[in-house]
Amino acid sequence: MCGIIGYTGSETAQEVITDALTTLEYRGYDSAGLALSGSKSRSIDIYKCAGRVSDLKSMLEKKMKPADREATCGVGHTRWATHGGVTDTNAHPHRVGTVTLVHNGIIENYRELTDEFRLKGKLKSETDTEVVAGVLDSFYAESEDPKKAIAETVKELKGTFALVVMFANYPDVVFAVRNVSPIVATQSPQGSMLASDLTALTRFTDRYFVLPEYTIAELHRSALYLWTLNGKPVEPEWLTMDWEKNSADKGGYPFYMEKEIDEQPEGIRKTVEPRLKDGIPDFSCDELDESILTDTEEITVAACGTAMHTGLVFQNLARKILHTEVNVCLASEYMYGEPVVGEKTLLIAVSQSGETIDTLEAVKYAKKRGARTLGIINVRGSSIARECESVLFTNAGPEIAVASTKAYTTQLSLFYLLIARIAYLKGIWDEDKVRDFTAHLCRTPDAVDEVLNIRKDIHIIARNILEASDLFMIGRGLDYAALQEGSLKLKEVSYIHSEAYASGELKHGPIALITEETPVVALATQESLLKKGLSNVREVRSRGASVVLFVKNAMSEGLEQEFNIVRLPDLPDEFMVFPAACALQLLAYYVSSDKGFDVDKPRNLAKVVTVE
Ligand code: M6R
Repeated sequence: MCGIIGYTGSETAQEVITDALTTLEYRGYDSAGLALSGSKSRSIDIYKCAGRVSDLKSMLEKKMKPADREATCGVGHTRWATHGGVTDTNAHPHRVGTVTLVHNGIIENYRELTDEFRLKGKLKSETDTEVVAGVLDSFYAESEDPKKAIAETVKELKGTFALVVMFANYPDVVFAVRNVSPIVATQSPQGSMLASDLTALTRFTDRYFVLPEYTIAELHRSALYLWTLNGKPVEPEWLTMDWEKNSADKGGYPFYMEKEIDEQPEGIRKTVEPRLKDGIPDFSCDELDESILTDTEEITVAACGTAMHTGLVFQNLARKILHTEVNVCLASEYMYGEPVVGEKTLLIAVSQSGETIDTLEAVKYAKKRGARTLGIINVRGSSIARECESVLFTNAGPEIAVASTKAYTTQLSLFYLLIARIAYLKGIWDEDKVRDFTAHLCRTPDAVDEVLNIRKDIHIIARNILEASDLFMIGRGLDYAALQEGSLKLKEVSYIHSEAYASGELKHGPIALITEETPVVALATQESLLKKGLSNVREVRSRGASVVLFVKNAMSEGLEQEFNIVRLPDLPDEFMVFPAACALQLLAYYVSSDKGFDVDKPRNLAKVVTVE
């Protein structure tokens, strides 16, 4: 949460920083700001406002000093508010004395620091960040040494932070330091730059490194240095981005969400194909030590939101195919349940960003107690990827829309490969059975493509729920698992209160809420559950609900006379979650876009959740 930038180089800082902020805006869009050091005036000027980066740009057009138009050094911030309301004053950067900074994270002891460093009269905002600026300014006043001041300051801080700092006496230099909250950095002929995530760096280079925790970065126009807190030099560990250069562009789509829904067939293929050898799943490209799969006895999936929902599908398949119980935990609740964890535990952490703090904490908790840890992650070099013992990377490419789509189906595809590999390793399936399973998995991208080809029908069906303020999504078995994701998608982008319910459970309470004003979205893709599922759908229809039914084509005969239906392409039941997911994503997308909402940046949300 919150996107931060630092740049010093040969380009116009204002342009580099506002471009990067636009890219990072998915991390928070309550306010935006930047600080520029004018190459002529040598002063550091701050421009900031509540609102979007576009508001900041308008402000710059009207108010920016001429010298700042040529500035070549600066820091920038896009905010997801934690301490203090969404106001101009609370927007970053913050300045106290000689120090100007931006921050991502939460400083837990900001009240104590305010008292200890006698900052009360000096602070203008309600933020924890400004307190850090105050502490840093106090230490700087003692030594006039930026690195020493930073080292002293971070020793005082409790909490998580990524700080990007400018000092008045060093107007061409940017400093940074972090604990937990991410920072990646690069050096190129155009200058030195750092940011909260990779999407902001693609403009210049595909080389980057992750700033190690409690290490000071010192960025100059044509050089970049890293230091320990004790002043010893550190060599960066350079990595190469595996994303194509323009993969974070909108590519002519009105919204990233639609683009990313469309990218799913390719994402699934790119995730699955390199991991199949003659039809048998093979994780040698991931350097996976397979004892993690064979020597563990208890599997837990810990993740948040959409990522957690992939665990529900895995749980369902693992029971049926591997005869293994899988716990699926909300990462934010994991440690409070005091789970029984030991050396025979396999904790699978699923995360698109690899930065979700709750998931990261769950991994640390399990590791500490001896568990083996496996990440299913989209972003290389991310914190969770580095924390896990082994990682399987999804090849989804950058996901920019706050609503997760292609991450979900690519994470699922890895779980399907894991199921087949474990079944193979444990002798549950012979090679033929494994090949048969993976052959169906390889057909899922085509099935998703077929759904994309009927998007117009889904758009028309979406009109049935446009005016709803509450609705239910109902289904049984794997459909119920898929609907939990479909329901999250709808509520987060359309603001319709949607609840996924197991069809059989409706009569135990929630059916009392069904009226003519409560549409029901039903999913029926599991042949053995069709009859029971349909009678539940008829029960809600008899109580006035209008029903939209997503049904597997082969099971759809005659149903169009009873319901508004969308036919989903035929795959064996256990693979139907792929086309179903895509159809429900499109439903949510069209409701949101038809209502005129900012589909990619839903109210109150942020793409990367780095605060607990
Ligand atoms: O980056 P992660 O996969 O760890 O993110 C987890 C959730 O925050 C994320 O899936 C969230 O639920 C999405 N907004 C859902 O669309």
